[in-house]
Amino acid sequence: MPQHVAIIMDGNGRWAGKRSLKRFLGHQQGAESVQFVVEAATRINLPFLTLYAFSLENNLRRPKTEVNFLMKLLRSYLASNVKRMNDNNVRMQYIGRIHELPSEVQDTMQWAENATARNTGTTLTLALNYGSRSEIVDAARAVLTDLIAEAQRRGCSLEDLLQADGLETRLDEHHISGALYTRHMPDPDLVVRTSGEQRISNFLLWQIAYSEIFITDRLWPDFRGIHLLEAIQAYQKRERRFGGLGETFTDEDLDQLEPASQVAEEIETQLTPKQLTRR
Ligand code: FPP
Repeated sequence: MPQHVAIIMDGNGRWAGKRSLKRFLGHQQGAESVQFVVEAATRINLPFLTLYAFSLENNLRRPKTEVNFLMKLLRSYLASNVKRMNDNNVRMQYIGRIHELPSEVQDTMQWAENATARNTGTTLTLALNYGSRSEIVDAARAVLTDLIAEAQRRGCSLEDLLQADGLETRLDEHHISGALYTRHMPDPDLVVRTSGEQRISNFLLWQIAYSEIFITDRLWPDFRGIHLLEAIQAYQKRERRFGGLGETFTDEDLDQLEPASQVAEEIETQLTPKQLTRR
């Protein structure tokens, strides 16, 4: 079972367009899908589900009316679903530059987070006003700010601190991971993207280094719990290698590989068209 599934919810506008409806109705239907998928995640005891609900780019590049609608939809989603979240033991949290969202939206978000904080089932994380590059920038700034504070505490310069301890011990992958918004979660095992686009769109770039990716043509408003299960089933058939050779590939297999020179010879004589072979 994956521990963490992250979903890029895409295709609300197209879903509405296909039905000659306004884009807003696509988003509204998309909010229904969110609840179906969250409930499916709780049924299978998925520890972490992260949904890309609103990117920094959406905030900057979409018409104000659409952004305002999405904010209203988020508030009404939270207001009307907190009870169900509690019934389903779902804990609500957020990642992104939340402090830049309208204050009334932040208030509702905070209320929902507090109201579900004691739940121990699925952690539902909404990425809101989120961009992965800005998350990495925020993490780098946090690491640097901590280092400056420590140098001040010790009464030395930052340069002296780094020289004394060595830059490698002060800044490595763990420091960056530990300063990301996602520091309390495992990296996603599986990323799902709906509506067939083959892009990552600035989503969890650091965290998905070794994640499996599942892309479906289904538009988000048509996505249901059963489709989450299909994605997980496809994930379970994959062999994750994390840069290695995989579990089924042993040292014995390695010993039995043909020498590279022999393989090169075979390619030249068997696979290259005759007229192109070197004489
Ligand atoms: C992409 O569709 C989706 C979004 C930009 C917003 C996602 C929002 C929701 C699923 C609904 C609200 C969410 C919550 C948590 C209440 P798109 O508009 O880019 O679709 P298109 O590519 O077909 O135009």
